[in-house]
Amino acid sequence: MAEKKRLQVGIAGCGWIARNLMLINMIDRMREISFVAAMDVNEQVATRFSKRFHIKKAYMNFESMLEDPAVDAVYVAVPHHLHRSMVTKALDAGKHVLCEKPIAISIPDGIAMAELADKKGLKLGINYMYRYDKNMYRMVNSVRSGNIGTPYYAIVQIPWFRKPSYFEKSPWHKKWETSGGGTLITQTSHAIDLMAWAMGKPATISGEIGTFRFGNIGLEVEDVGIGSVRFESGALGVILGSQATKPQKPDQIGFYGEKGSIECTYWYSFIARLHCRYVKRTSLKPPTRGLASITSSFRGFARWVLDGSPYLCTAWDALKPLYIVTALYESAKSGKKIHCTSLDWWR
Ligand SMILES: NC(=O)c1ccc[n+]([C@@H]2O[C@H](COP(=O)([O-])OP(=O)(O)OC[C@H]3O[C@@H](n4cnc5c(N)ncnc54)[C@H](O)[C@@H]3O)[C@@H](O)[C@H]2O)c1
Repeated sequence: MAEKKRLQVGIAGCGWIARNLMLINMIDRMREISFVAAMDVNEQVATRFSKRFHIKKAYMNFESMLEDPAVDAVYVAVPHHLHRSMVTKALDAGKHVLCEKPIAISIPDGIAMAELADKKGLKLGINYMYRYDKNMYRMVNSVRSGNIGTPYYAIVQIPWFRKPSYFEKSPWHKKWETSGGGTLITQTSHAIDLMAWAMGKPATISGEIGTFRFGNIGLEVEDVGIGSVRFESGALGVILGSQATKPQKPDQIGFYGEKGSIECTYWYSFIARLHCRYVKRTSLKPPTRGLASITSSFRGFARWVLDGSPYLCTAWDALKPLYIVTALYESAKSGKKIHCTSLDWWR
């Protein structure tokens, strides 16, 4: 029997997340994907990565990898400020793209990327991979299908702890210019994505941010951020994101409504537990499954390109958490509540 076509992927940025993807794939062995090239500006990193994970070609130059006809799609896993330029180059070269979250560091950048992908007829997915976690998928789709009745409020709590070495290894995390923000855009935006997916359009947003634990090592961005959202439906949302909580506590995302509540608790992105109170547990499943949500998401992206099955987080979807996060920052900096207008791109 002829072997099914695999999506041939080139990796751009061989850092922490790309390494973790490849380590999980050593066990999961995604049959839909072949990793055919790896690229990093750091020559040693690119060479070591490609050897370690048996990837045939290592590049130090992004344009050279884009010229490689063996590459059908590019996985962009680089610092946030580079997402727009690298995704644009990849789309211009005719490649499909799976870009790491956040889509970009500003809404105009993100809209330009989504529009370019549509214009070129290419797929641009953003790896908000919690959407592919079985229990988080069940939770959000329970809310969307009315299982909790009218939603009253949602809570997102991401109380992480990071060591100074996290910022020393990847100093781009420290700066507004390179990261576009701190813990809200980096860790919390996964959960904010789920909140927006379940609750819909926001109407007003207020935020506060602070830099506590890591100010003394030059952290410009926030290590704690909080906020509130009123959605168009009238429901409320509360957000807490931190990378300064010692000891780290489990994450929690919950939705509370007329009939009951549904929550997920988890550590990092692993093994989310679902808690349903007065709400029936559904047997819904995300469209693709893997050993971890990252490989489920990659499988979903490959299926999208190979046979057109919908991917759960398009570029347009990924603009929603970015909008909420950037509005939290704008509110925190201006001291004003943000009224959410000009959301005609919200689909
Ligand atoms: N989905 C998730 O849960 C998850 C988890 C961690 C990180 N991320 C995201 O992945 C992305 C990368 O984060 P990370 O933690 O791997 O960062 P990292 O600092 O560990 O790695 C970034 C890599 O990009 C390389 N790089 C820098 N400039 C480059 C360029 N111009 N061309 C090619 N390579 C370049 C660096 O040399 C480095 O190896 C970010 O968008 C981050 O938010 C996602």
